Amino acid sequence: MRPLIAGNWKMHGTLRDCAALAEAVRQGAAATPPAAELLVCPPFPYLQLVAVALLGQGIAVGGQDCHAAPKGAHTGDVSAPMLKDVGATHVILGHSERRANHGEDDAAVLAKAEAALAAGLVPVVCVGESEAERLAGDAEKVVTGQLAGSLPDGFAAAGGVVAYEPVWAIGTGRTPTEAEIAAIHGAIRASLVARFGEQGRALRILYGGSVKPSNAKAILALPDVDGALVGGASLVAADFLAIAGAC
Ligand code: 13P
Repeated sequence: MRPLIAGNWKMHGTLRDCAALAEAVRQGAAATPPAAELLVCPPFPYLQLVAVALLGQGIAVGGQDCHAAPKGAHTGDVSAPMLKDVGATHVILGHSERRANHGEDDAAVLAKAEAALAAGLVPVVCVGESEAERLAGDAEKVVTGQLAGSLPDGFAAAGGVVAYEPVWAIGTGRTPTEAEIAAIHGAIRASLVARFGEQGRALRILYGGSVKPSNAKAILALPDVDGALVGGASLVAADFLAIAGAC
């Protein structure tokens, strides 16, 4: 399947920075079209600007979260139909920073993923164990439990994306070993096939956590690694495109 390289810009940059980053990604991808599909997820205030700048350029744009309700009295929140309305096609859900900072549990992520599907957005559902859970030998159990609790029934039919992001590898420069990544991606694949049958084989499973140009090739070559969800390195267009070029 065609790999997906997704950039999670998190809460970084100004309007000017994000416009420049989108333009640099657009130019780079136009000059050297990568084998991978590209997705960028800017902060909400800049999403529409980036979506307009990338319209028709073959680079998808996504939100970093959405509310479970389509509208209502939810101050500060953004709905899935709003994201769709301003040009998003994807939405990251259940990122460990949301799970940790906003107390989002699997049930909350499931409700958001249902909302994304209802709005016609592709959910990119994040799972991943803490360092303590990995050291206790529980990584696989934690991750398959999160999948069971967070993925809606319509996930596979909508081409949903799973992102495996070990919490301890995010922004730390540390990554699991290649064997560890392959093992847990294999377990995620098995769980997707058990839940969704043959459709589960066609779903992308991204690796995220300290992906950079220097380690991308080795990680992206692993079985059942169908792309990457990139944080810090996605803020530098050349690095993001180098990662996409490593597929
Ligand atoms: P880093 O690539 O900065 O480790 O972030 C990963 C991440 O959280 C992407 O969602």
